[in-house]
Amino acid sequence: MNPNSAVKRVGLFTSGGDSPGMNAAIRAVVRSCIYYDLDIYGIRRGYAGMIEGDIFRMNSRSVSGIIQRGGTILKSARSMEFKTKEGRQKAFDNISKHDIDSMVVIGGDGSFRGAQAFEAEHGVKMVGVPGTIDNDLFGTDYTIGYDTATNTAVDAIDKIKDTADAHDRLFFVEVMGRDAGFIALKTGISCGAEAIMIPEDNMKLDELIDILKKGRPSKNSSIVVVAEGDNLGGAFVIAEKVKEQFQQYETKVTILGHLQRGGSPSCFDRVLASRLGLAAVEALMAGKSGIMVGQVHSDIIQTPLEQATKHGPRINQDLLRLAKIISI
Ligand code: F6P
Repeated sequence: MNPNSAVKRVGLFTSGGDSPGMNAAIRAVVRSCIYYDLDIYGIRRGYAGMIEGDIFRMNSRSVSGIIQRGGTILKSARSMEFKTKEGRQKAFDNISKHDIDSMVVIGGDGSFRGAQAFEAEHGVKMVGVPGTIDNDLFGTDYTIGYDTATNTAVDAIDKIKDTADAHDRLFFVEVMGRDAGFIALKTGISCGAEAIMIPEDNMKLDELIDILKKGRPSKNSSIVVVAEGDNLGGAFVIAEKVKEQFQQYETKVTILGHLQRGGSPSCFDRVLASRLGLAAVEALMAGKSGIMVGQVHSDIIQTPLEQATKHGPRINQDLLRLAKIISI
């Protein structure tokens, strides 16, 4: 036990959609706790495991050989029961059996909303580490997994481009992002997409058809990158509507889906996860709670969880403008 720390026993879990780099963050949290002489407990399957009491003591070797692995050794889940007061009470009873007085939650906006409710009701100190491929949290330039996921998507779209070109086809490629277009915007620019459809931009069907028609006389193939959460619907819906206007070309749809969430994390994500893992433990030791640690302009900063989850239209308008100018 560390007499200089505001907390003594730390619980650690991953929650919501997994992201590449979560293991690197787990490793950093566990090793930082051990370095500072704090007891560290892992909780499997996020809030669901907390409700079931799936809690175990971790040590330095529990996290050996995981920094390069995708997924999460602690497993992840989305728990409906934790959204209820009764569910949170069960979770609290279980962590109390282990005298856990503080928690590091690695996840996205839903996980952080759960953390806020838990802290408010039971006074457990909660610090968030941003782990989601969506990059849709305020208070960090990058969330853990976003860099890897965008590189995975770029690799896949490059391959689609080859076959699109060979057959003179129009391809709609859907990338993840239920509420946000960060993955679509970055990958669309990187792959030279003809158009990028994201919820924050609200592009109308007429505008899309116009862009594609203007390019068609000189271009053989075209790629449209669609964010899963686009306001016009997913890639299948949009392709169906656009198809009639381009009868001389075959229209195809590819949904990249969950392959974007897997794979070995990039160097960037491993370093980001390691930095944020240490920062989370040091924040708890300093008595901080109800905050998320993030990286902005290479500095580690802290943001109240409430602000982190209220994602405003943070899409970089310069990137959007760039995408439109250079896709002609
Ligand atoms: O974690 C975020 C995310 O990958 C979103 O981009 C996507 O909409 C969602 O998770 C998919 O969730 P699930 O794996 O539960 O289908």
